[in-house]
Amino acid sequence: MWLGVDYYPEHWPEERWPADAKLMKEAGLTVVRLAEFAWSRLEPEEGKYDFAWLDRAIDVLAGHGIKVVLSTPTAAPPAWVIQRHPDILPEDYTRTPKSFGIRRHYCFNNEHYHEHSKGIAGAMAGHYCGNPAVIGWQTDNELGCHDTTRCYCKNCAAAFRRWLRARYGSLADLNEAWGTVFWSQEYNEWEQIPLPWKSVESQMAHNPSLLLDFYRFSSDSVVAFQKMQIDILRDLCPRHFITHNLMGLFDQVDYFDLAADLDFVSWDNYPNYSESSPHWTGMSHDVMRGLRACNFWVMEQQSGAVGWNTFGSTPRPGLIRLWTYQAIAHGADAVLYFRWRTSRFGTEQFWHGILDHHGRPGRRYDEVKQIGAELAKHSHEWIDCCPRNEIAFVLSYQQGWAFHVQPQHSAMSYWHELYRLYEPLREFGAGVDFISPEADFSRYKLIVAPLLFLMDPALARRLKTYVEKGGVLVGTFRSGVKDSNNVAADLPLPGLLADIFGISIIEYDSMKPGLSNSVVVDETHLRTTARIWADVIEPGTASVLARYTGDFYAGKGAVTVNTLGSGRAYYIGTALEPEFYAEFFKAILDQCAIATFDSLPEGVEASVRCNDGARIVFLVNPFREPAPVTIDGEYVSLLDEKTVGPRVTLPGYGVMVLKEIVK
Ligand code: GLA
Ligand code: ZN
Repeated sequence: MWLGVDYYPEHWPEERWPADAKLMKEAGLTVVRLAEFAWSRLEPEEGKYDFAWLDRAIDVLAGHGIKVVLSTPTAAPPAWVIQRHPDILPEDYTRTPKSFGIRRHYCFNNEHYHEHSKGIAGAMAGHYCGNPAVIGWQTDNELGCHDTTRCYCKNCAAAFRRWLRARYGSLADLNEAWGTVFWSQEYNEWEQIPLPWKSVESQMAHNPSLLLDFYRFSSDSVVAFQKMQIDILRDLCPRHFITHNLMGLFDQVDYFDLAADLDFVSWDNYPNYSESSPHWTGMSHDVMRGLRACNFWVMEQQSGAVGWNTFGSTPRPGLIRLWTYQAIAHGADAVLYFRWRTSRFGTEQFWHGILDHHGRPGRRYDEVKQIGAELAKHSHEWIDCCPRNEIAFVLSYQQGWAFHVQPQHSAMSYWHELYRLYEPLREFGAGVDFISPEADFSRYKLIVAPLLFLMDPALARRLKTYVEKGGVLVGTFRSGVKDSNNVAADLPLPGLLADIFGISIIEYDSMKPGLSNSVVVDETHLRTTARIWADVIEPGTASVLARYTGDFYAGKGAVTVNTLGSGRAYYIGTALEPEFYAEFFKAILDQCAIATFDSLPEGVEASVRCNDGARIVFLVNPFREPAPVTIDGEYVSLLDEKTVGPRVTLPGYGVMVLKEIVK
């Protein structure tokens, strides 16, 4: 596997480059990413390219056996580009242009910017396609970062109207789909359609159907911008891979669409936890792996204290190593640390890398060197293995956008509701995939599909078939509420899903912050607290598993299960406490015979990579204190080359990579 760094040779005197390359090599690093923001050095004036310095940097690295991923530098348009075409600057929703001065100051729909981007991407691709040290490309950098996905300029308004024309065909159909009769918003010319610009109220008071389509359009614009670069790179550099550094749980761009054009996904991981649960980071890794259903790269892995003008704590000894193995455990086949050496200037001069400003190797360098030695020795054991899971979460960016527009409750967040159901499964060490609503459900024993707010007949049918054929489905409140135009369904809830869950929701209650109800599980008498939302459920063919005990709906169903064909569909009508989900999922995991790790200490992560011949278990302890773990069977602990099991003790911030001994 690859271990590497993000390196900016243009920030350092050329005389230093050989010393950097030597230190990298000694640490076992095999790949660097270059050129990400180097446009002003690569094309100092329009059409005048200077690749000589980058050629020399690549030569120095290649001389030490280090391979190179090049990035198109379009996340940082230089001053001359903006001076020549000021209309490239994006506008905010008050229609004020955002100034040159940071990065990402460009509109995705600006044709001048398209031309400049094609120019630099084409020139770089032409120059580097035959360089044997170059292995692949990263498009741009963190597309959409700094809240730049949605631009409100004239160009975007015109492009949005074209996009709507293609989607709806006629204005009559658009008016019907959006319900524009409400507040006299009916359009009789396409040019009348606004972007969600600043109006008399907050932005989210615009027509929800317009807002959702604007989010879709903005996401499509980012995807198309990247595709424009990918077409050039593929054409000129057919031997090279193409990836992009995504941002984990970032949700303004439909990452399934963005990833579809890549060879594989990369992402930038800045966990900065010291004493808290690692499952949020684990979920980010799982989401990133899910976008292409294959192993991924970490293109930027935190390796020092991070922040711009203020910054967080320095990674405790062991944490860089822990983050690295956690990434590998979830399917990373490359980890590159951000950044090699902390910059002396610019906005990020305190976003620390492996080396501090002075450039001398210290504690963090030594830790990376240890990782380099370990991977050189052992990574062949797992490199052909992937996480292979029997549980999938349905992830939908569009559902997230619909909730962004109308969260329903001040404490409702799409990602937090996913996490509420993800964490208890990971506490058992059960592996989880994230799949798109269009994916094949049939290969999973358990599908968890929270908050299916927008529902269309095709998805409802596919979920039904999945259950009928023996699948187990878990759904939640606020499902089947709307159609895909973000208009409320005219059916009793959960709308098109009612026959799958075998229930009818006779009332619902958005609980004021601070208010709660109590829920008791019929079978185990577990009493737990319900917050945020309460669906009052009338079972049809379903049976009630847990019910409310308070308020006017005391005794009514809160959680149900329906048998349909040879499968089961569970409905959780409210947000409950962790002890409920632990008990709930334990029973389902047992019934589905999904492998778990019993008695994992809270917050300790267990993950598996396997192929037909090998099963490798990764254990990660994010706490300062040692953690005892019991695992079934006997294993070789690869990193310390000992035979262990069934009881092992992870040191504080410790990791273990265990290869099962098959007898
Ligand atoms: C992102 C970017 C990097 C760097 C870091 C730190 O991940 O990709 O270029 O700016 O953030 O801010
Ligand atoms: Zn724009």
